[in-house]
Amino acid sequence: MNIKEIYNNKLITVEEGLNKIKSNYNVISALAAAEPRELLSKLHTISDRVENVNVVTCLPMGAYEYFTDPQNKDSFLMEGWFYSPAIRKTHKNKNVSFIPNHLHLAATKRLDHRKTNVFVGTASCMDKHGYISLSLSATYEREVIDDADIVILEVNPNMPRTFGDTIIHISEVDHVIETDYSIPEFPVTEPSEKDKIIGKYIAELVEDGSTIQLGIGGIPNAVAAELMSKKDLGIHTEMFTDGMVDLYEAGVITSKKKTLMPGKMVATFALGTKKLYDFIDNNPAVNIMNGKWVNDPYVIGQNYKMISINTTLQIDLTGQCCSESIGHKQFSGTGGQADTAIGAQNSQGGKSIIALYSTAKIRVPGSEERKVVSKIVPRLDHGAIVSLSRNDVDYVVTEYGVAELRGTSVRDRVERLINIAHPDFREQLKKNAEELMIW
Ligand code: COA
Repeated sequence: MNIKEIYNNKLITVEEGLNKIKSNYNVISALAAAEPRELLSKLHTISDRVENVNVVTCLPMGAYEYFTDPQNKDSFLMEGWFYSPAIRKTHKNKNVSFIPNHLHLAATKRLDHRKTNVFVGTASCMDKHGYISLSLSATYEREVIDDADIVILEVNPNMPRTFGDTIIHISEVDHVIETDYSIPEFPVTEPSEKDKIIGKYIAELVEDGSTIQLGIGGIPNAVAAELMSKKDLGIHTEMFTDGMVDLYEAGVITSKKKTLMPGKMVATFALGTKKLYDFIDNNPAVNIMNGKWVNDPYVIGQNYKMISINTTLQIDLTGQCCSESIGHKQFSGTGGQADTAIGAQNSQGGKSIIALYSTAKIRVPGSEERKVVSKIVPRLDHGAIVSLSRNDVDYVVTEYGVAELRGTSVRDRVERLINIAHPDFREQLKKNAEELMIW
């Protein structure tokens, strides 16, 4: 049989794909823009037939009925490595839950806990040698494919063909569903004045020849725009973003000075606009590699002058960061925040940076009103999750400046963090610090 015949023999319809899923099965879906939208948007149609199907996913882009409609509760339990707006809304129905993890160990630990019956994902079209590309993510997908009894991929000509650990042979895939929907985009917002100020402070910390990681969230994306004056930057990151494309096209990213995989921009997944998807398509300068390797802090540390730039929801006066919950309520996930921050500290000349606005306008429960609070607080909110230990924060940046925490005592940290808090909150923070006897 030639390769095309092998491929054709694997072709099934969405309904046939859904028929592979049985009660009590463990199903894992590919991440974010790599999620299989045809299968997931119709998964609820088998709810009369199945019960107790466990679906694990990470940062789903769609609000799929199988988990948003409480009527499907007995059929599906969704467990997430990273909450999205739709999961946050659904949480109250008790059919979704969060899996605590460091992203580089997420798959390994989960697969130790439960065998995968079915992996569902997406891929670009097959080449003449029988290879397809998992396209937008190799964060955990490769590991799960190796574990799964059944692998079903939605092959889509709109999915960029990427290189790295995304390339797999059709013989490793059990079933193929052909689709042609457009890929979900993650819009880029224009940097605000505050973003620009924060970006400029960060740019002062990034030396030419550094390798950078930019995390998820508004600020890291805006930072890219302020790095345009740098030379010979490299990329070793979890998420590949539009800002990185701009830096590459402007000649700022050359990957020449990289000490690990020189010449290559390395990421575990890509999420952004069509511009980004077109850029990574068939582009050997970008390698989408296994998250277990990319996000391993010891691997990250092999990059000289590795700079991790992430953001947080709340930080206490000693440097503990809550980046994934609002109080006890799960908001997003740890993702690779700790992986990348620890990795940067393992690197010669490396720096772990947390950038945040000094204040947030938060919702007042039970009303439409919002109130302004300091994001730098004496104590994290009751129940808040510490996503990043204070031991792993080298620099904190707000629109009021830079607090270098590396090697400092608690007393010094308190002072430095108060100095970059919003002026309206500084006196109160000083009083609180005195009361807590940390200053
Ligand atoms: N108290 C209460 N609510 C707060 C808050 C605080 N201190 N700070 C922010 N919020 C609210 C905001 O008001 C906003 O609410 P809204 O959606 O109702 O407007 C919401 O939290 C999101 O805030 P925002 O600052 O816009 O978040 P973001 O999109 O920039 O994302 C994180 C920030 C921290 C959630 C995100 O970066 C994250 O999940 N990080 C962890 C993972 C990570 O860093 N991975 C790194 C490798 S990719």
